[in-house]
Amino acid sequence: MSAVRAPIVTIDGPSGSGKGTISRAVARIAGWHLLDSGALYRLVALAGLEHKLELDDVAGHARLAAAMSVRFGTGPDAEQVLLEGRDVTGAIRSEEMGQGASRVAAWPAVRQALLERQRAFAEPPGLVADGRDMGTVVFPQAQLKIFLTASPEERARRRYKQLKEKGSGASLSALSREIAERDARDSSRAVAPLVPAADAALIDSTGLGIEAVIERVIELGRRRALWA
Ligand code: C5P
Repeated sequence: MSAVRAPIVTIDGPSGSGKGTISRAVARIAGWHLLDSGALYRLVALAGLEHKLELDDVAGHARLAAAMSVRFGTGPDAEQVLLEGRDVTGAIRSEEMGQGASRVAAWPAVRQALLERQRAFAEPPGLVADGRDMGTVVFPQAQLKIFLTASPEERARRRYKQLKEKGSGASLSALSREIAERDARDSSRAVAPLVPAADAALIDSTGLGIEAVIERVIELGRRRALWA
């Protein structure tokens, strides 16, 4: 691994904890780069589907993880994700791809194939990295580590609202079940399970507005002199 000199803030937590929204906002306010590592796992699942790989083809998925061409949008197109030059922004956000991502993410060979790709995002002036193992495995040297949680009910409600806004007809009870399944798999896997880093600041966002959480993170960064 090359020496990484850019300052890094990691924001880890379970699905629906608000990591994506908070990470994006903090990166924008700080003027830093953003790594949405979950999108990479979703892309591996989508690429596997497109290449008609068997669901248990670990080596095939790991090969795709290493070789796939990925581009993230910047500025006003910051949410855009391109796979092999095609816009897959909407396609990777379905709950189906979330489940697929969580399946391939349990395989060490896939995680290893994505490691350097993720570390390459650490460029000046700084990086906000959003995921499950950003503070524990990918960027253990990060200057600030946040572990964001919320109650399972609140997380299911948020995901429901998000998917609904995107026009998906998911039901709240099915989503609660799927999120619980995904959390259980993410937390119990042998490699890089979803756990807070020992030196992470825990923020429970249940009942807190987005602005309040962003302000907490900005304040923690200020105390570490990461920004003014
Ligand atoms: O964050 P998002 O919901 O997009 O992540 C999709 C899945 O990818 C997660 O459920 C998890 O299994 C996996 N993931 C991971 N490590 C990360 C980010 C995501 O294992 N750093």
